[in-house]
Amino acid sequence: MNGRFGSDHDGPDEGLELSDVQTMFAEFATNLPELPLYAAICRGVAADPEAAAPLLAASAGQRRPVLWLAALHDLVLRDPAVAAARWYAGAAARDPAPPGDPWPDVRCTVLEHRDTLTETIATHSTQTNEVNRAVYLAAAFGAACADVAEQTVALVEMGASAGLLLLLDHYRIERRSSHGNSLVGAPHSPVVCVGEDRSDTVSPAAPLPIVASRVGLDLHPVAIDDVVGLRWLEACLWPDVPGRLERFRSAVELAREHPPTLVRGDMVDDLAAVVALAQQNARPSSQVVVFSSWALTYVARERRQRVAEVLDRAAARGVPVSWVTAEPMGCMPGVTLPPSLTAHDATTVLAVRRWRDGSETEPRVLGTCHPHGEWIDLTVG
Ligand SMILES: C[S@@+](CC[C@H](N)C(=O)[O-])C[C@H]1O[C@@H](n2cnc3c(N)ncnc32)[C@H](O)[C@@H]1O
Repeated sequence: MNGRFGSDHDGPDEGLELSDVQTMFAEFATNLPELPLYAAICRGVAADPEAAAPLLAASAGQRRPVLWLAALHDLVLRDPAVAAARWYAGAAARDPAPPGDPWPDVRCTVLEHRDTLTETIATHSTQTNEVNRAVYLAAAFGAACADVAEQTVALVEMGASAGLLLLLDHYRIERRSSHGNSLVGAPHSPVVCVGEDRSDTVSPAAPLPIVASRVGLDLHPVAIDDVVGLRWLEACLWPDVPGRLERFRSAVELAREHPPTLVRGDMVDDLAAVVALAQQNARPSSQVVVFSSWALTYVARERRQRVAEVLDRAAARGVPVSWVTAEPMGCMPGVTLPPSLTAHDATTVLAVRRWRDGSETEPRVLGTCHPHGEWIDLTVG
């Protein structure tokens, strides 16, 4: 992902006109050939100003094809009788989608429901909660907490969405590689997360530390009983990726049994209070692990260092504190990237800053990964 489709802190887009929007759809179709449904739809929109127009209703920073696609997916999930729905395997409860060109059905649905789509686009922003990201988070937590693995964790997620990643220790998390496979989490979980390990050398996966408390912080948290909010999260998933929707739905089921605490607030301004809450719900000796995954990137660059200041103060009380990020390159402040990574600007970078015995240790880049955890590479340098 790059440019207007997901780079670190995308710029304002108010100046974009209809022809620019159509160009973005054309680029999207070219960039993601592995998504046949979305590529075909985007090719259609790129050549059809009437179909593209609803995206002009998007609020600042949101004028991107993914929002248009999510609005249509939401419509399909809400009303599986619309013509476009038969191309969406998840909505039609069928896998895979039929062969042929989806565009005529999609165009017909878009024009017929233009007002609904425009309203959805005007009032929503894209929001995902990608459960398979547990693959890279588990690897990052194992590396970040290796020196204090015996201490239970007060876990905090910045930008938690519905909080599904806070439950990663309830998932079966597999890393597969030619050097052998590894498994952490709950082996018999109905939620299975899988990623390829592309590291040069693969060591056995460190077990996840025991989680004593978990709190998620989000500007727009989605409660596990919020049917409309959860449908929007589903709509933001790409239906072309096999198993993604099903994994999300099983994680939601599991979260109904173990609902994480979610707090509405800003991940910088409200972090100190949320860390204190997580500590209060854990044991006095628990270490603090704060993480973000594709969320810090939405915070203005100049505000990000304040996260470290909050954690510095939390660490002054003596407990180990770790801050793990899985974000686009250059997002975590204070971390120097190895020169070898600069060529990989399509990747997500795993990095950690840690405080031990009250002082910060050397920040580290842990590796790179696919933004949805399809692969990780812990070879750095
Ligand atoms: C792309 S989603 C990622 C969600 C989740 N971390 C994951 O990886 O699946 C980004 C989340 O960050 C939240 N967010 C964006 N800016 C925020 C802020 N300043 N404070 C708190 N949450 C924020 C959004 O509401 C959204 O839920």
